[in-house]
Amino acid sequence: MLKETLPGPSEELPFFYGQPPRPDALADHFSHFVIAVADLDRSEAWYRDVIGLDPVGRNLTAEKRPHALLRANTGQMLILVQHENVELARQSSHGVHHGFVLTQNQFRRAMARLAELGYSTSAQREEFIARGQYSVDIYDPDGNHYQIETTDDKQAHELLLPGTGVVDCGPAGEYAVGEVKLFREGNFYLVRMEEGFLALSRWCTHMNGLLTYQRAHWRFWCPMHEATYNRRGEPTCSTNRHPDLKPLRLNPVEIGPDGHVRVDTGVVNERQSYEVCQAAPAPMSEAAAGAVR
Ligand code: FES
Repeated sequence: MLKETLPGPSEELPFFYGQPPRPDALADHFSHFVIAVADLDRSEAWYRDVIGLDPVGRNLTAEKRPHALLRANTGQMLILVQHENVELARQSSHGVHHGFVLTQNQFRRAMARLAELGYSTSAQREEFIARGQYSVDIYDPDGNHYQIETTDDKQAHELLLPGTGVVDCGPAGEYAVGEVKLFREGNFYLVRMEEGFLALSRWCTHMNGLLTYQRAHWRFWCPMHEATYNRRGEPTCSTNRHPDLKPLRLNPVEIGPDGHVRVDTGVVNERQSYEVCQAAPAPMSEAAAGAVR
């Protein structure tokens, strides 16, 4: 019987290595990836002992060169193929690398194993990483670049207190309506709305990434997974990407008898939506008071 050149038409997701497909996932897993290595014994030992993959066997596929198969606990395969010369694309760059996502305990065990084996790990993405996200970079014996990653969901969502107590932000009258000022040490943005002052905690409600204010767009932007918020702290990004994103948390604001705005960074309040009463009313300026009189 002739072999078909194409599979039959079907929208069914493939049944992958014993794991049922998730109907909402476009593509659930990759099947395998292939890495060129110079010394099969050395690399097989590295992927077994450092990454923790299970060796399956040698020369088990149609590949003509000597090769070794290793399997992750998801069933996904890594195939090491021996070449005389291994040329890396953009060596030591971020351009070509692979990431292994581990459970928190697997990550802890991997860190212990790397330390035991004398590997110094670096975290090249540290400045871009959200609270609760972990990622370290390592290189195999041929210089192939890997990241080992995990996420601590609890840490990623806990309330963070900057420990700077009550911050005096200066006279309320010096803030123009619409102005946004960052208080870096207190990790909050003071926003002068028409209805008063809001102190928005700088940590993104998705996973505690640190927000940047983009003046040209009048919005706060999170470099971690690109959530955006308006100046009231309400999420403005696609709900497909961040379906349950909450508004930014608030630090309480008080206007003292001396007219100074004070923000208590020792208290962080979560909220479901923006209400006008959340803004601390600005004292009436001389000019405005005169106009009312
Ligand atoms: S931490 Fe994920 S979007 Fe901010």
